[in-house]
Amino acid sequence: MRRRALTGSGGFTVAPDDAASRIAAWQRRAGRHGLPWQHTRDPYRIWLSEIMLQQTQAATVVPYYTQFLALFPTVTDLADAPQDTVLRAWAGLGYYARARNLHRCARALRDTHGGHFPATADELAQLPGIGPSTASAIAAFAYGERTPILDGNVRRVLARYFAVEGDPASTRTGRQLQAHAQSLIDAAPAGLDMVAYTQGQMDLGATVCTRSRPDCARCPLAPDCQARIQGRQHELPSPRARRAQPLRHGWMLIAQCADRVLLQRRPDSGIWGGLWSLPQFEDETALKAACARLSADSPPQALAAIDHVFTHFRLRIQPCWLRLPGSVPGQVGADQAWAPIEALDAHGMPAPIARLLAGLYGDTSRPR
Ligand code: ADE
Repeated sequence: MRRRALTGSGGFTVAPDDAASRIAAWQRRAGRHGLPWQHTRDPYRIWLSEIMLQQTQAATVVPYYTQFLALFPTVTDLADAPQDTVLRAWAGLGYYARARNLHRCARALRDTHGGHFPATADELAQLPGIGPSTASAIAAFAYGERTPILDGNVRRVLARYFAVEGDPASTRTGRQLQAHAQSLIDAAPAGLDMVAYTQGQMDLGATVCTRSRPDCARCPLAPDCQARIQGRQHELPSPRARRAQPLRHGWMLIAQCADRVLLQRRPDSGIWGGLWSLPQFEDETALKAACARLSADSPPQALAAIDHVFTHFRLRIQPCWLRLPGSVPGQVGADQAWAPIEALDAHGMPAPIARLLAGLYGDTSRPR
């Protein structure tokens, strides 16, 4: 291990030259190995996994990833698919902007890159939905490029190892962490195994250097981890400044006629953009007016409310069930469809809406 000086705040001025190699060796020995997106150098498969893993845990992603690849074996298959089909395959994973960007990116690759992924992190980062850290992960896994990742888990590992104060998600602290991430690679030997190193940082963050119970006894960085040496593992990284999450309300209509339910496709922008949901209203008055327009002969029946947490707010949904007499109306509003109850799962729906309908009519869970 190269000698190194400490800065005033307790961090290194020069990254140790063996830290990255220790992480890579630890990954080969004790990291995760059976994930379906490992052991491939195919940038399409790696890109898909990295996008799915951005806000979702690996165990949840696995079945979606497998089904997605079966539906869209190549980036051109994905580009050629209608957006509705892509959203349906994504439904249940949440954060649907990821799916829309994924599709846009596939189309950009087909239309301007001949269906091939560019070969560097810098070029990858120009594509829709690929931020700098995701671009680095793809380039490291697919091409072995010596480029640093900086996702949420890695920010925590580095904030502890280098004892960096401040909210790790902030721009200011992010710049410091980025510099440290780069310094670890710069200090490492030429033969550094970038695949094991990159996966190792993710694995360390997910399984050892966890937010509330860091297991320093198992950590390859423990001997010179500044947070551990200072006994500050539980103080670092600094907690994020939490904003109060406003509570919003939405009234949703489950209008059933014969064996069909009225679904409404949501606008492309905003929450659940492009997905099929239920007609939604600001308040009970607006919902009742819609029932009258459907010529209901009985009042809607209120079901149990459900809460759903988004990144910036919570939504309390009040579902109301309405049975309509007679036959299914021939006319529907824009972006509406009378969907057969036994085929509700043919529509890409947000998970809470799919669960709500499954509670009423049986399972529509995904992936199938
Ligand atoms: N999170 C982001 N990328 C990942 C990967 N390649 N393996 C496991 N978890 C991840």
